[in-house]
Amino acid sequence: MQHLQITPEEITMETAGIYERMRRVVPPFEWAVHAPFVAEINRLKRQRNAVILAHNYQTPEIFHGVADICGDSLALAQKAVEVEAETIVVCGVHFMAETAKVLNPGRRVLIPDLQAGCSLADSITANDVRRLKAENPGVPVVTYVNTTAAVKAEVDICCTSANAVEIVESLGSDRVIFLPDQFLGRWVADNTDVEIILWNGRCEVHEQFTVSDVQAYRLQFPGVTVIAHPECDLSVLKEADMVGSTSGMIRYVADRRPERVVMITECSMSDNVSTEFPDVEFVRSCTICPHMKRITLENIRDSLLHLQHQVEVAEDVSERARLSVERMLAVGRGQGK
Ligand code: 13P
Ligand code: SF4
Repeated sequence: MQHLQITPEEITMETAGIYERMRRVVPPFEWAVHAPFVAEINRLKRQRNAVILAHNYQTPEIFHGVADICGDSLALAQKAVEVEAETIVVCGVHFMAETAKVLNPGRRVLIPDLQAGCSLADSITANDVRRLKAENPGVPVVTYVNTTAAVKAEVDICCTSANAVEIVESLGSDRVIFLPDQFLGRWVADNTDVEIILWNGRCEVHEQFTVSDVQAYRLQFPGVTVIAHPECDLSVLKEADMVGSTSGMIRYVADRRPERVVMITECSMSDNVSTEFPDVEFVRSCTICPHMKRITLENIRDSLLHLQHQVEVAEDVSERARLSVERMLAVGRGQGK
């Protein structure tokens, strides 16, 4: 790990008050490694007139240490529209950076690691969508935002895990094609009368959770409240006390203050959220998204330093993808999930 010229005094100044936000989950010996990077990043952000958008699955030193805006996919899309800074660094996966670029084409959008992908985004292409539309003429198509801009460009409207049911119902159709997450699609189908035509995509993280995992948590941690992300299998979701997007999960904990909770989702969520709720016991369910974890303090620093890796979307694709995302933003956030 290489550091730029930064003095101990500058590190102290640039990181004042920041460790307090994560001390419950980041031990002092780890903070000693992170602090110089956090200092460099915060200095570079000012020099580059940049803001950092971070998904809720980023590690605590990113989430609490350098991010300006944190949230779920929907919140990040909404906030991206409002960003006035010259540069946006997306600490998340590639489709999130593409969405930020599509919504904010005049800004420089950077992702610290171009390989930060997503098994859902990889499961479908624009050609697949064109074929599905030809096979189902007149049936409206919804895509989860976990897709490439090229796929978004082919559909009628996007959705996120926070508003999927609301978006499907907003179309006023008896049948809807729902892409690409078959698990989220089944959850939607279970919560609406609209007939859902599914694709076969899956999130490689959430597909790992099973009903016996949930049952084991309940047995081992009596009274635990189980909250699950709708990218899990329907059988798992039926065992949960609450189902919602990552931000929906955070709001649930904030409002209900359960004594004990387990979040059936990516690992870093509990770390990030637990710092704010010392009165809640978080049972850790640790399943890591390898794509989210490609983003590190070191490559964020390098991203700002070398203005890499710039995310570009071809203009015709961008315009059509933007319409799909804007139609979603016009429908709204859903039932607070
Ligand atoms: P949300 O944060 O929108 O719930 O999505 C979760 C996810 O898997 C992002 O990759
Ligand atoms: Fe994709 Fe799943 Fe990782 Fe989210 S958690 S980025 S859906 S692979």
